[in-house]
Amino acid sequence: MVPIIIPNTLKVKNLFTPLLSFGFTLISATFAQAQVVTIPVETAHNALVLQSNVAKQLNAIYYGKKLSNAPEYSAIPDTYKQAEDYTGLYNAAYTAAGSRNLLEPAIAVTHADGNNSLDLRYVSHEVTKQGDDVSLLRIELKDPVYATNVTLYYKVYYKEDIIEQWSEIRNTEKGTITLQKFASANLNLKANSYWLRQYHGDWAREMQPEETQLTHGIKTLDTKLGTRINLFMPSVFMVSFDKPAGEDEGKVLYGGLEWSGNFKTDFEVDPQNNLRIISGINNYASPYELKSGESLTTPAFWYTMSDMGKGEASRNVQNWARDYKILDGKGQRLTLLNNWEATYFDFNETRLSGLLKDTKSLGVDLFLLDDGWFANKYPRNSDHTGLGDWEENRTKLPHGIASLDKEAQADGVKFGIWIEPEMVSPKSALYSKHPDWVIKQPQREEYYYRNQLVLDLTNTQVQDFVFHTIDSLFIKAPGLAYIKWDCNAVIYNAYSVHLKNKQSQFYVDYVNGLYKVLKRIRAKYPTVPMMLCSGGGGRVDYGALQYFTEYWPSDNTDPLERIFIQWEYSYFYPAIASSNHVTDWGKQPLKYRIDVAMMGKLGFDIVIDKLSAADRKFSQDAVKIYDGVKQIIWHGDQYRLADPRTGSVASVMYVDASKSSGVMFNYLVNSRYGEGSPTPFKLKGLDAVKRYKLQEINLYPGSKSGIDSERVYSGDFLMKIGFNPAVNTSRSSVIVQINEVK
Ligand code: GLA
Repeated sequence: MVPIIIPNTLKVKNLFTPLLSFGFTLISATFAQAQVVTIPVETAHNALVLQSNVAKQLNAIYYGKKLSNAPEYSAIPDTYKQAEDYTGLYNAAYTAAGSRNLLEPAIAVTHADGNNSLDLRYVSHEVTKQGDDVSLLRIELKDPVYATNVTLYYKVYYKEDIIEQWSEIRNTEKGTITLQKFASANLNLKANSYWLRQYHGDWAREMQPEETQLTHGIKTLDTKLGTRINLFMPSVFMVSFDKPAGEDEGKVLYGGLEWSGNFKTDFEVDPQNNLRIISGINNYASPYELKSGESLTTPAFWYTMSDMGKGEASRNVQNWARDYKILDGKGQRLTLLNNWEATYFDFNETRLSGLLKDTKSLGVDLFLLDDGWFANKYPRNSDHTGLGDWEENRTKLPHGIASLDKEAQADGVKFGIWIEPEMVSPKSALYSKHPDWVIKQPQREEYYYRNQLVLDLTNTQVQDFVFHTIDSLFIKAPGLAYIKWDCNAVIYNAYSVHLKNKQSQFYVDYVNGLYKVLKRIRAKYPTVPMMLCSGGGGRVDYGALQYFTEYWPSDNTDPLERIFIQWEYSYFYPAIASSNHVTDWGKQPLKYRIDVAMMGKLGFDIVIDKLSAADRKFSQDAVKIYDGVKQIIWHGDQYRLADPRTGSVASVMYVDASKSSGVMFNYLVNSRYGEGSPTPFKLKGLDAVKRYKLQEINLYPGSKSGIDSERVYSGDFLMKIGFNPAVNTSRSSVIVQINEVK
């Protein structure tokens, strides 16, 4: 038996048995396969298997269901009788450019001497256990000719079947090297066909899905917007194998990049008909220099795979997000009243006092003061002025936010505020004082997105400014309980005065600058809830969400549209992070609008005192009802029962961990004559042997439910036969509470 490298951090007894109760197994090489090291990275159901061959090339030989007998992983490659791999590198675990590779690389380097070749060979690996559920595999790779080293990281979340993968690239050459490409991950997958579900969008049109079969060659999902990066495209995607996966059947992989800047994900169906996925920071306009001794750590690419369809994959991601990725993912959230659509820029202290009272009478936790409260030289009375001048507007708020904060406390509600700290209006005192802090081409005409420009967060002075802007809000208003952090502009004319002749580092350094500020804010204010907003859902990713408690999915709050938008987000993000506000968008009745907003974190953005007495009473009752079910929605398991894209009704349910309480949301999405729910929807996630009663909740005053709340059903019946919420054109939205009968 050939010895293999055993990490110090592992206590190994027997190399042929799994070393840890989860995560990784090392398989020793046999004599015939001298030097071959196989590294299965195991999660609860899957294994990603890496193998260093005799030439010490590290390949990914498998990603799929895990085997009960780990040593058999090594036999997997022999079972494929595919076309020739002329390079032996098609399935490289991290494809290096410039040697004999023929396909899309994960990394491309120009060495100090101008040479463009890179070849990476396995050196060693080690596993560190980071908790009951989490472990980290590091694999060291080295170029035998040039002093470029790469460490591949695989962070494994065993229970959730999730892997995060990233790389660290180190320059130990004497001179400076340039990274032409520096992906986070390189996956290799085998199937007969691959079906990509991707998303596109624009303002108020977030998360529009498209599903297509991948053909040979490369399909790229990317963004070059710099900020508000998801305006046209998020980095999240799904790939189904052999056929598009269903909700509860089919093999599907989900992935996304934890990066709030330009990303690029390539899907290459290679000459052998395998799928190579390479994801990372977009190398567009970004060759990145590393001086001798410097290194670059790439952001994590997360992925999960399920053999049980899209539903299970999404529950994996939602659990992982709540446990590890979203700030306070297992905590509580504040319901709120927001004034954006109620007042836009037109308010004063009297109006806000009224809104604080409305917040209390509505029964929500917090009043959120939106855009328009700041700037004096160029008052923020429209979206043309004032960004950057973050002092209270003396006409609108002569007593400042400190007094609003106190008033809120006296009224028994909390106070939160909107801010867009990365941005500057050309008409602002900040712009006049610090033109060199603004991203723009020095010799070209300025070009605006929403009449504004972006501040240069690569500059530490700007980072300080943004930090102190937020800090000063808390200093002025110590009771400040919520921040809505907006980012409305993309980056045009990318140029940083600060970076001088290092312009190619701009896009990467911007995001790192942003994260530095957010880290600093979180060090001082670790738990204060913050909403991640970007002109709607222009910035939703797990890189940013570690600093935020929730995100704003879209400015489009038409409930019919929101059913579709929230549905797609829910594959990748948990309901607790989805800020859903009831507004005047859409033609649906108030009940429908509130019911849709309840499938996440409920808020309101309507003029309460203009509501009819019945609507007002209904809204107040709805908040109480929501308070009774919100823990199930925020912390329970989500199941999609009926897809609005394939039928006239959307149905979604949430069940608590003990399977004793649930809530089911049903909405008519097609108002044509006679549409509704003629057949029952099979419930999911219940306990077959438990008995349940189902009761309709959130009824509009005066309406009665035909649902018999005394009838007892077995979980078995509800999951095999189903339940009909009796949706029709006069009952276009129906919420049903599910309670175990003990
Ligand atoms: C963006 C946000 C909105 C609102 C406005 C204020 O568009 O998405 O919710 O805050 O800015 O200008």
